[in-house]
Amino acid sequence: MAIDPLYATALEDSAWEIPQDFDTLFNWNYSDERADLLNLYNKGKTMQWDTDSRIDWSQELDPDDPLGIPIELFPLYGADFFMKMSAKEQGEARRHQAAWSNSQFLHGEQGALICSAKIVQNVPDTEAKFYAATQVMDEARHVETYKKFVEKIGVAYPITGPLKTLLDQVLRDSRWDMTYLGMQVVIEGLALAAFANIRDHAKDPLASAVNAYVMQDEARHVAFGRLALREFYPELSQAERNEREEFLIEACYLMRDRFSSSEMWENLGYPIEECKRHLEGSESMKMFRTNLFSRIVPIVKDIGLWGDKIQSAYKDMGVLGFAQLDIDAMQEHDNAVAEEHDARRVHVDAAIDAGRSAAE
Ligand SMILES: [Fe+2]
Ligand SMILES: [Fe+2]
Repeated sequence: MAIDPLYATALEDSAWEIPQDFDTLFNWNYSDERADLLNLYNKGKTMQWDTDSRIDWSQELDPDDPLGIPIELFPLYGADFFMKMSAKEQGEARRHQAAWSNSQFLHGEQGALICSAKIVQNVPDTEAKFYAATQVMDEARHVETYKKFVEKIGVAYPITGPLKTLLDQVLRDSRWDMTYLGMQVVIEGLALAAFANIRDHAKDPLASAVNAYVMQDEARHVAFGRLALREFYPELSQAERNEREEFLIEACYLMRDRFSSSEMWENLGYPIEECKRHLEGSESMKMFRTNLFSRIVPIVKDIGLWGDKIQSAYKDMGVLGFAQLDIDAMQEHDNAVAEEHDARRVHVDAAIDAGRSAAE
């Protein structure tokens, strides 16, 4: 089914055109020296999965709490007007908030699909093109998966302004590394932290599984960035590296300060100023916003864009400490969690089969 009837607010347009101006590169050498990138390509080939069979889509969501997240973690929890609402009204707020955030995941995944397809064209080496082609397929599966999840919630929201601004910027840039930096490091970095939050706190098994499986693929996407960019940036001039750092600083502030769901609160008819005051003042929301950078900062350091300016921007944002996090350990953990979900699924299926044969 098409998602249009589910939009809670009107779409500006049903399609979005971004003019492109970049060189598509052929490589007649079919280079195969980069064993690390080819290894990633091979992993991408063998670790494909099918959302229809890996995830049990017969599970229904609770309309008043689609993700199964404790109400204390709801962004407006504690705001006077929210606490005075009936359980039904609070349920509606929770459904719309889940719809808004999962809609942004969906649109962001479409952004990742389009950006990785662009990288296939403009990255110079064949090994990198091969790898990026597997990422295109991964991102298509992510779009498919979040679309199904948004359909389950039954409400959708259009792409929010700041996400659209950043996507527009990275897609207009003709340099493959800028597309990768904006899309993979910033947008997917933020998304990964948000996915982890749902995977680890959602009591709903469907919500948790969706995020665990998508995160397992992201480990390869992040690994490509680390391999390709760590090699590429030392070849650039200091001025070119500074330009990348400035772009990162601007993009991080944009996402921290402007990425908010005010259009959703407005659509629900909530007092917008009171919402903003609560969201800006609440300690748990400050913590949530800070944690969103836990995946971005260690990668930025790892790929060598670690000059004074970026360090002081991250210090100002209160996220510099994340630079110490162990990226490999985080990825191993993400992989292990996805495998636990698979094991649980096998266990449940076996129990159902055993029940069936006992009944026969
Ligand atoms: Fe993705
Ligand atoms: Fe990705």
